[in-house]
Amino acid sequence: MTEAFDVVDVIRTKRDRSELSTEQIQWVIDAYTRGVVGDEQMAALNMAVFLNGMNRREIVDWTKAMIASGETMNFDSLSKPTTDKHSTGGVGDKITLPLGPLVSAFGVAVPQLSGRGLGHTGGTLDKMESIKGWDPNMSNARMMEILEDSGAVVAAAGSGLAPADKKIYALRDITATVDCIPLIASSIMSKKIAEGTAALVLDVKVGTGAFMRDLDHARELARTMVDLGSDAGVKTRALLTDMNVPLGRTIGNALEVRESVEVLQGGGPADVVELTCELARNMLDLAGVHDADVEEALKDGRAMDSWRRMIKAQGGDPDAPLPVATHTHDVVADKDGYVTELDALALGVGSWRLGAGRARKEDPVQATAGIEIHAGYGEKVTKGQKLLTLHTETPERFERALESIEPGLSIGDTQPAPRTLIHEIIQ
Ligand code: URA
Repeated sequence: MTEAFDVVDVIRTKRDRSELSTEQIQWVIDAYTRGVVGDEQMAALNMAVFLNGMNRREIVDWTKAMIASGETMNFDSLSKPTTDKHSTGGVGDKITLPLGPLVSAFGVAVPQLSGRGLGHTGGTLDKMESIKGWDPNMSNARMMEILEDSGAVVAAAGSGLAPADKKIYALRDITATVDCIPLIASSIMSKKIAEGTAALVLDVKVGTGAFMRDLDHARELARTMVDLGSDAGVKTRALLTDMNVPLGRTIGNALEVRESVEVLQGGGPADVVELTCELARNMLDLAGVHDADVEEALKDGRAMDSWRRMIKAQGGDPDAPLPVATHTHDVVADKDGYVTELDALALGVGSWRLGAGRARKEDPVQATAGIEIHAGYGEKVTKGQKLLTLHTETPERFERALESIEPGLSIGDTQPAPRTLIHEIIQ
């Protein structure tokens, strides 16, 4: 087959800060997926994009080309509207677990196609797999059946959706080109648009535990993704939310499931409840259900009923006890004062080192490993009080985990200002 372009010309175009044409982008993504363009050439092009950026038209073309590299799903045959949420990834971010059942309690379908964790942020599938019997794999026909019946599903994103992104993301991961707004936006949105949801709420994290460390960059990422979604006919909105401090009181797979169940029982930490409810309201609003009393649905058991149906539909036992770690280690306060620092990245890396996350995608994870937070950000503590409990199956990991956690934990004399959880909404 004669190729339409010479890849070296395409790389040179972006290296020299010129615009890539629609045809160049379509070709290079397709040729890379076919294996005609090599990893080293795509890596060079990614780096040129990282350094020189892409304009809005190029980002749209890049996203469309990645969607066109695979199959697309379609939920039009369902009797209910669909809405989904995507988080750019954070520490202790278990919101997907209570959110899908909560939203589906209002008659809206929530097809959550999720992934596994890589690095210090956890993956929804790893969390859910700590529930006995639960299985994320199913045919598309079965997914439609569960959505029609229970309303919410958490499924493994199949390899057929945006395969170009899968290949490019793996390459970015090993070539220092992940944290680039055009590449992140097109990567996330290609998968979400291919998934076929009618409405989408993005939770763009800002802070030490997130890709975007400051509000300006998070805003730019959110704007780029909202525009990509809207242009593709998906009603899209983004919330910018704090990720300087972990969400809730638990980090790690089974520990996060436990906390999610507490939220579904009408309890749970205030920040997890607030963010779950705000995201649910926005998802429902985009799906045409306005003014839903989502707090009430958490309290009166409707969300819990949806959770139980969803777990059972996927082979899980919602009543089975969650696994518990064989080894624990407490971290205690070394003086009286207030918790002035509880750094999301430090604790995320700590939990990962305890065994909750993986370094390579084929590594196993420990369901029980992670961190329980006893004293939250801004809380008053006294010397000797338990601040954290670390959990693992492999106690030789405590030392390395503590090397990450301890520098991210401070006790000061004055109470810090309360943190803002939800910064702004972009639509
Ligand atoms: N998540 C993705 O799916 N892609 C990115 O580029 C970053 C986060």
